[in-house]
Amino acid sequence: MNLRSDEWYGGDDRNSYIHRAWMRRGLPSSAFEGRPQIAIANTASDLTPCNAHLNEVAQSVKQGVYEAGGIPHNLPVVSLGETNVRPTAMLWRNMAAMAMEEMFRANPIDGLVLLGGCDKTIPALLMAAASVDLPAVVVPGGPMLNGTFRGATLGCGTDVWKLSEEVRAGRLPRDTFLRSESSMIRSRGHCNTMGTASTMAIMAEALGMTIPGIAGTPAADARLLEGAHTAGRLAVELVQEDRTVSRVLTAGSFHNAIVALAACGGSTNAVVHLLAVAGRLGLELGLEDFDRIGKDVPLLVNLQPAGTYLMEDLFRAGGPLAVLAQVRDLLDPQAVTVTGRPLVDELDVHEVWDPEVISSRESPLIADAGIATLRGNLAPDGAIIKPAAASPELLVHRGRAVVFDSIEDFRARIDDPDLDVDASSVLVLRGCGPKGYPGMPEVANMPLPQKLLEAGVRDMVRICDGRMSGTAYGTVVLHVAPEAAAGGLLALVQDGDEILLDVPARRLELLVDDAELAARQVSATTLEGYADPARGWERLYVDHVLQADRGADLDFLVGRSGAVVGRESH
Ligand code: FES
Ligand code: MG
Repeated sequence: MNLRSDEWYGGDDRNSYIHRAWMRRGLPSSAFEGRPQIAIANTASDLTPCNAHLNEVAQSVKQGVYEAGGIPHNLPVVSLGETNVRPTAMLWRNMAAMAMEEMFRANPIDGLVLLGGCDKTIPALLMAAASVDLPAVVVPGGPMLNGTFRGATLGCGTDVWKLSEEVRAGRLPRDTFLRSESSMIRSRGHCNTMGTASTMAIMAEALGMTIPGIAGTPAADARLLEGAHTAGRLAVELVQEDRTVSRVLTAGSFHNAIVALAACGGSTNAVVHLLAVAGRLGLELGLEDFDRIGKDVPLLVNLQPAGTYLMEDLFRAGGPLAVLAQVRDLLDPQAVTVTGRPLVDELDVHEVWDPEVISSRESPLIADAGIATLRGNLAPDGAIIKPAAASPELLVHRGRAVVFDSIEDFRARIDDPDLDVDASSVLVLRGCGPKGYPGMPEVANMPLPQKLLEAGVRDMVRICDGRMSGTAYGTVVLHVAPEAAAGGLLALVQDGDEILLDVPARRLELLVDDAELAARQVSATTLEGYADPARGWERLYVDHVLQADRGADLDFLVGRSGAVVGRESH
């Protein structure tokens, strides 16, 4: 077997001596003779609470690697904690992916085990692994156990939005709200709703990048460690068979991920992340593919934010593969997993044990659960909406715009009793795209005006060039491209303009005539809302970030450079 790491460790010259000698640390010389060197790309960090347990998971991976004859190496990589990192973890996803990619390439490693959990960590790991194209397997860190408060379950994220709206509407005392805080995060693991972290774990599995059946295993469940051990063993086999990322991830894998996204009711954030990963592989994947492939996929999973249950319940009910077994005929039969076998061949053993959590194909929660791609003068490059999380009566809606230039502007004015807004208005928030903010924050699910909340209004049409938390819901048009700061028409919308949303017709239009629009200028206050960083990563990001329809990757990171490094370090 020809190992990449032999370029460092093979031979008897001065340089191979240097590479080996510093790595010995008690290892026998046989450790560097034909044994696959496996890096465990580990996003554990005390400041990423959802991933803090991954050091323990890494120990199980290590045992598996040793057992199969490889040599494991813990490789801490940039970690991103969704709840802590400002101004938004998404700003740093590409930075994390770039740093990971370069360290995977720069080091003497033959294969990768990717340990992620919190929202951006699995996407960044997948983007990096795709660009360096080494053999790789993902171990998702798993969700938290169900939280409970006052006898009811508490879902991470979703119930924060719900309870805080109840406080604003005057129906929940603030001290009760604050008491729920310690009940929500009950164990190790990532958010237990069908938010971005749960979604991306399922995406990794549906793409074929995990050992089958591991996604959704709670972080506190011993079977996660067993799966990590198995993944460590498999990483060695992947190297022996030279089964690199690009041999696993094909157009069919993305097809399967999109089916899984719809059937599980996954987060809209998966759209940007899957587009970015596909971009690294040079695969043609566009927004319309999500609409086309997801179109007739039924929603089978009854999880918060749209539904009732949490990830622990999904696991108990059979897990993501039991969901995919229900829609087997919609999956690509050829797409393989890291095992080398087709994903569809793994499904037979996965039964549904609780039809309340995983509906049968015959009685889905929603018949058509895909993401709709909208086009029109407001979004010539596309925008998306998740009809399953929207109010049916708002899917075709015409209303007057109430425009905000930034999230700060929004917060300052939304509860003003004099704000000219009613239930039929369309809330427009701009300056929140990849360039404008920068980093495309999760602010699109704008809270409703207090006076309308008090009057019983629970949903309104909202339009934004930013993203929405995977744990949020509502009739929200997201990812408008181009964003306002990249020359999108969103920048020219004025209060009172009529906007048409027609989801069945896939249209999003600003109903202002062309002559009038041609005469409009972007206002100084709108321009002030756009980011103009002086230096550092933010400057690089603003200058090079692509729009949401291209996965918000950096233009120079699209594609892959492979794993070859031609020059010695000494
Ligand atoms: Fe980490 Fe939700 S905050 S997964
Ligand atoms: Mg999130």
